[in-house]
Amino acid sequence: MSNYQPVKKIAIFASGRGSNASKILDHLGNISGIEVVLVLSNKLDAYVLNIAKENNIQTHVVNRDSFYKSDYTVKLLKNLEIDLIVLAGFLWLIPKDLIKAFPDRILNIHPALLPKYGGKGMYGQHIHKAVFEAKEKESGITIHLVNEKYDEGKIIFQAHCDLSQIKSPEEIGKKVLELEHKYYPLVVEKYLDRV
Ligand code: GAR
Repeated sequence: MSNYQPVKKIAIFASGRGSNASKILDHLGNISGIEVVLVLSNKLDAYVLNIAKENNIQTHVVNRDSFYKSDYTVKLLKNLEIDLIVLAGFLWLIPKDLIKAFPDRILNIHPALLPKYGGKGMYGQHIHKAVFEAKEKESGITIHLVNEKYDEGKIIFQAHCDLSQIKSPEEIGKKVLELEHKYYPLVVEKYLDRV
């Protein structure tokens, strides 16, 4: 009997600096049977593209028309035999055809405790400012499946942090990002068992 197990292939979508993408690459790089084969961005100058190139990973930059009005992305992902799409700071809404082509195969991380502080326009420092102004006692991260609405897919993981000593939105951002870096790579690895 053969012990052959197919490699599980991941595409990371990111719009910005790519610190989560970098942590995921570091973690998964040490695990056999898992490979990140594509980093896709909607921004030509996103730093995450440099990280991908340093790791010899194929990159692709989408524009609005190709992303929303053509089947280019679905075809690209299917041709690469992608098993899981990991959003790591990707700020565009995922089109319906992509969700349909990858059912329960798209994960997102959100830097707050959903269902609070989610939805269009709620990203990065906007979230931490809102959390700070509301004098929340805690914040955290949410990792969830992606559906056709911003931040409303099934939650699969949350981690909390205490805000009692916090003096600024920036401090919240730092604490939350630490949680993202600690848990997102682990949750992605674990979720791959299900795909
Ligand atoms: C992360 O904090 C992620 O949770 C957030 O963008 C940041 C990307 O940072 N995503 C959202 O706000 C999605 N609504 P990174 O580029 O350093 O990984």
